[in-house]
Amino acid sequence: MTLKLLAVVGARPNFMKIAPIMWEIERRDDVDAFLVHTGQHYDERMSKLFFEELNIPRPDVNLEVGSGSHAVQTAEVMRRFEPVVEKQRPDLVMVVGDVNSTLACALTAVKLGVPVVHVEAGLRSLDRTMPEEINRLLTDAISHWLFVSEQSGVINLYQENIDKERIFFVGNVMIDTLLACKDRSEQAPILEKLSVRKRNYAVLTMHRPANVDDPGVLNGLMGAIARLQRELPIVFPVHPRAQAKMREQVAGLANVILTEPLGYLDFLKLIAHARLALTDSGGLQEETTVLGVPCLTMRENTERPVTIHHGTNRLVGLDPERIIAAALETLAKAMPTPCRPELWDGQASRRIIDVLTGTLPAPPPTRLQERREREAIHMVV
Ligand code: UD1
Repeated sequence: MTLKLLAVVGARPNFMKIAPIMWEIERRDDVDAFLVHTGQHYDERMSKLFFEELNIPRPDVNLEVGSGSHAVQTAEVMRRFEPVVEKQRPDLVMVVGDVNSTLACALTAVKLGVPVVHVEAGLRSLDRTMPEEINRLLTDAISHWLFVSEQSGVINLYQENIDKERIFFVGNVMIDTLLACKDRSEQAPILEKLSVRKRNYAVLTMHRPANVDDPGVLNGLMGAIARLQRELPIVFPVHPRAQAKMREQVAGLANVILTEPLGYLDFLKLIAHARLALTDSGGLQEETTVLGVPCLTMRENTERPVTIHHGTNRLVGLDPERIIAAALETLAKAMPTPCRPELWDGQASRRIIDVLTGTLPAPPPTRLQERREREAIHMVV
């Protein structure tokens, strides 16, 4: 029997997570995929470029939802996704990551009685002011299969009383993509293009509303950047939502190199040879860990603690003085050794598809009471 999987992508960080899953599906004949792009990200540099570079098949459907408030965007994805699921009647709907499209499609599918697979389940920042945290919590609560990238995720899901039979620690699909593309990325001419030298520049990414929407916070962060660009050039690829604001902010900072959002291969090469990363992104904390590049995360929390305990990541918060001190300290030290957290070995996608093809038909959703009884019996045995 061939498993019919409907996979969903919507925003940039989804593309590198779905890519290795699509490659794995391509290799096998026990599973077929139908790919839906919600259109949450639509700029060529935020979407099309990634499909080309990562050999992701052209989406079968693009819902073209575009931008909007959280409610409008989420609702619009749901409205447009529902008829697609009704028409396709897949065995499973797969969502990845924690963007609005992830939650919207999970909710739509589960209400149509189609079991949901969540890849990158269980991550928690414990900060419910982050839209992504709400998306993670709700998606996990209604997903049928939960594929987790680091041990902390398993513990979080246990604590949320999620049925243990549904939780699988499989490793990190985004690292599957990184390992598969690393050699190819070395050909990218980005360092020459930006006129920077290996290990002699920092990379900055910053787009979270909490950091760029509040002028007080943003001014503080840019003050830290102004100080640090005196030490080494800082390359700053800017998310479209922050373009205009950032141009204004860096005017007069001679050593800050502002670029458009970069493609995957350019960005991978840029990060791999950086001396330091400064970021508020989630994925970059993981990529720098594997590449052995020090990462200072300008947030008070992370949903990816393995990158701190076993990686190169350090939380530095939003206080400019603390960011400057941490960066200077990092620059004074030797580069760290690259580190591979458990199961970040390039095999996560294979494990996911193995579990899904080996376990159909999925067990029906259970009532909490039945589950408690079953777990109690497990414990006695
Ligand atoms: C989304 C994700 C965030 C992820 C980020 C990565 C949610 C809640 N957030 O945030 O977790 O880290 O993607 O990029 O889903 N825009 C464009 N072109 C595009 C897409 C967006 O110009 O292709 C602009 C629009 O002005 C839009 C704004 O960016 O209103 C925000 O886009 P949206 O998709 O709502 O959230 P992101 O900030 O991109």
